Parts: sequence; C-alpha cells; structure tokens
Amino acid sequence: MSNYVKIFDTTLRDGEQSPGATMTSAEKLEVARSLARLGVDVIEAGFPAASPDDLEAVRRIAIEVGNPTDGTKAPVICGLARATKNDIDASWEAVQHAKHPRIHTFLATSPIHMKYKLKMDPEEVVEKVYEMVSYARTLCEDVEFSPEDGGRSDPEFLYVVLGEAIRAGATTLNIPDTVGYTTPEEFGALIDGIIKNTPGMHEGITVSVHCHNDLGLATANTLAGIQAGARQAEVTINGIGERAGNTAMEEIVMALKTRPHTYNCTTGIDSTQITRVSKLVSNYTGMTVQPNKAIVGANAFAHEAGIHQDGMLKNHQTYEIMLPETVGLSRSKLVLGKHSGRHALKVHLQEMGYEFSPDDLGVIFDRFKELADKKKTITDADLEALVEDQVYQANEVYSLDGLQVACGTMGLPTATVRLRGPDGAVYIQPAVGTGPIDAIYKAIDQIVHAKNKLLEFNVHAVTEGIDALGEVTVRLQAENGNTSTRTSPQTENTRHRTFGGYGADTDIIVASAKAYLSALNKLLLSTYEEKPAANAVNG
Ligand code: KIV
Ligand code: ZN
Repeated sequence: MSNYVKIFDTTLRDGEQSPGATMTSAEKLEVARSLARLGVDVIEAGFPAASPDDLEAVRRIAIEVGNPTDGTKAPVICGLARATKNDIDASWEAVQHAKHPRIHTFLATSPIHMKYKLKMDPEEVVEKVYEMVSYARTLCEDVEFSPEDGGRSDPEFLYVVLGEAIRAGATTLNIPDTVGYTTPEEFGALIDGIIKNTPGMHEGITVSVHCHNDLGLATANTLAGIQAGARQAEVTINGIGERAGNTAMEEIVMALKTRPHTYNCTTGIDSTQITRVSKLVSNYTGMTVQPNKAIVGANAFAHEAGIHQDGMLKNHQTYEIMLPETVGLSRSKLVLGKHSGRHALKVHLQEMGYEFSPDDLGVIFDRFKELADKKKTITDADLEALVEDQVYQANEVYSLDGLQVACGTMGLPTATVRLRGPDGAVYIQPAVGTGPIDAIYKAIDQIVHAKNKLLEFNVHAVTEGIDALGEVTVRLQAENGNTSTRTSPQTENTRHRTFGGYGADTDIIVASAKAYLSALNKLLLSTYEEKPAANAVNG
C-alpha cells in the first residue's frame, strides 16, 4: 500500500457551511488559489445545488484553479451532491471545467438517519446508492461516495452499501463520522473492517476519512483511520466546520510530518504555507483562531514560563517538537525597511508566496512606504496584514475616506465618519456612542443602512512594540431587511448569514472602522439594494 495520504480540503464546503463562516465568491477563489499553492490534492469547492451563487463559485474555481498554466500540479476540483440527479447534474455543471473534476455524492446509512431523515428502508438506500453513483459515473470518471453518519452505521450494512458503490463505479469511499461520536479505537477498527470486508475492494479504490470534532477527537480519529489504511483525509483549515468543526488540516499534516516513525505516511503539503493560509481563512470568515490552538494558535510556539524559556535558550528541542519555520512562522524576522524599493518588496512577497499584478503591487508598495514612515522595522507579519487589508478585500461599496474621534473621561465619545459611497458621493456623519468604536459604528450605520448585529469584535497587535500594526476582525449577522437565506445541504434550514471583516492600521480606531466596513460591504454585496442616503454632501 502506498504511504501517500491525499489531503482533501473541504474548507470551502463543510467549513463554509458552518454558521458564521460565509465567504464571498472572490474570497472563495482566493482561498482555493492558496489551497492549490499549499499542495492539497483535492479541493471540495462547494455544494453547487445549494444556490446559483454556489454553483458559479465552484465553476470559477474549477476554471481558474483547476487548470494551472504555470506547470504546477492541478488539484482535483470536487463538488458535493446529495444522491439525486438534480444535485449530481449541478455538481457536474460546476466541476466539469477542471482538468481533474470529481463528483462527491452522499446518502445516510445510520439507522437513525434512514428512519427519521430519509424515511427509507435499508434496501432502498442500497438501491439508491447504486443508482446515483452509476449516474454520476456516466458524467465523471472520478466519483466519491460517502455513507453519511458512517460512524454510527452498522458495519455489516456499510460493507454492503460500499460494495454497491464500488460496483457502480465509485473511485473513493469516504467514511464520515458526521456527528463526531466515535473514538479512535472504534473508528480505526471501522476502517480496518471496511478495507477487509467490502466486496470488490481493490488497490484502485481510495478509502477516505472525514471526522467531525464534537468530542474533540477528530484529529485522533482521522489518524486512527490512516493507521488502519485510509489514504485520503478530509480536513479544513483551522478545523472550521459544522458545530465543533472538522479535522484541522494543519494538525494532520504536522502529525504525519513530526512522527514519521509512528505513521510512516507523507502528504504533498508545503507546510511552510500553513500559517499564511490559516490567517487568510480566519480573516475572511472572521472566525478567530483560539490562542492555544495546535499549530496555528498565537501561543502555539510561545514560551512563557521561566523554566521553559531557560530550556529553550539551552536547546530549543527541550520544549519545541516542531520548528516554527516549518509552519511558516517567521514573525519577528526583520525583512524590509524605509529604503527598500519596489523590486525588493516584490521579490520578498514572492518568497512569501504572493504574486500580484503591477497595479496591486503599486498599491501595496504605497502602503508599505506609509507604514515604514511610522514603524521602523517591518516584518513578514506586517506585510501579511497589509496585503490582507489592501488586496484581499471584498469589492468596496463604501470606503473609509476620513475619521475623527473625540473620547476620554471628560465627555461623550463622539465620532465623525466620512465615507465614499457606491456612486462616488461623499457622506459625512457624526454620532455619539458608549465608546469611540461604538460611536464610529453608529455613524457608519447611519450612512450605510445595513441592519446587522455585531457578533464579535477582536483587536490584536501584529507584532510587539508600541508602533505595532493593529489588526481588527469583526463578525456580524445580517438582520431582517438584509437577510439572504441559503439552503444547507444537510439541514435544509434557512439561516441569517454572517459576514467577517478585517482591517489593519497602526491606528486601531482606523483598523476598527475598516474591519466593520469590510464586513458591511460583504453584506451589501450579497443583498444589494441601493438606498439613497439623506446626508450625501456631493456626488
Ligand atoms: O459530515 C458529513 O457526513 C459530510 C458528508 C457530506 C461527507 O460532510
Ligand atoms: Zn462533514
């Protein structure tokens, strides 16, 4: 058996499906590009039958990321489909443009799902699986089948269902622990049993694992599945996903890399890009990574205790099992200064994995010079923040044109905000709030008129020092009047969409305004109805 484990990334499907992780099409495309650069084997780009927007987002990824022209490996581009002709057609319509397309179809096999959700007999489920996998195979050579809630399904029944999927032409059999219920011993044994007992199982079939983290066991279960012979792991960046999330890609990749003698397996992932992609996903979704999160948390490589610091100074291996550089952390590295030119910046950004058009590079260069005037030392982390603030933003409906704040203990915190609107008009609005940020957000609300509830507001410094850039991420939820609903593949529930926003500046008040506007712009772009504002001063 090969010791190569394919990394199947579902950040853009199972990850994006989780409450609060909504991304715009442009953001999805950028994440897909980053995943391809990271070296993932399969990108599950979405659930095309969910809505025309979802189909279009997957189609764009299939065209633009699924056909690299620079000689790099083309990732498989996959679309999820329930076991219906309509879903399978939508999935194929979206992914067929990729060099390597895949249709991923699923049907539940646990007693509880078959009885209450599907209202189907086990025999009907077996028939449906054969019928739909066969249908998918008439369209696409690469078909993946998942028995949903596999972790709570009867193994004997799974062998029958999976045998039918193989007979119908499935090339990958993915075993989901949909509700994160199993333990590593159970899940490893389940995979072992499937490999040994499924009729028609052969070397050409990839057995895959897809674990949810409800008991905090997703990574352990995935590794147990790999030890039992699974050779595809379904994962998301930062472990985002339904409820407690999916298996985190960074944890699987680094476990296999750090413990080669235990697992004896490799992946095609360039681990030095992990930190960058983690930040990108966190900023786009507005879902902050907990500081003590393995591999990508802010404290994952920080040593605070005196005894630990002493040990580290004597030999870093005393308390460090991985070098920070292996996951792309070089946050304190001095990179460029005030006198660095455009070419030096371009080369350095390329080394960091960024490729920009001359126009975008020009904008980043101007911001870099501005920052270098305020801040003596510019690090990779500063550059990342600038790039994300400047380039990886949704199209701007409203942009920040000016900001003035008065606050302190002597009076009412007051902000005056000047925004440039969609038609080029300039809007000026003062407001009073409980604090400066509240005042700014109230003023912005009075111009933009996008009803929302602020769910989360986070501010932190990019690097150490009083002159550090401040990063702000926000998450907000559209409220009545702006709500656009989508159908989730698994729950059929409608929901209020949430939007993440990101802003960076040496002035955290400015960064806060930018982050809020960036989230509002996404909200507006998804439900845009132009509302003339009463306070336009020109345009
Ligand atoms: O968790 C799950 O069961 C899924 C399937 C659609 C693979 O996400
Ligand atoms: Zn899932």
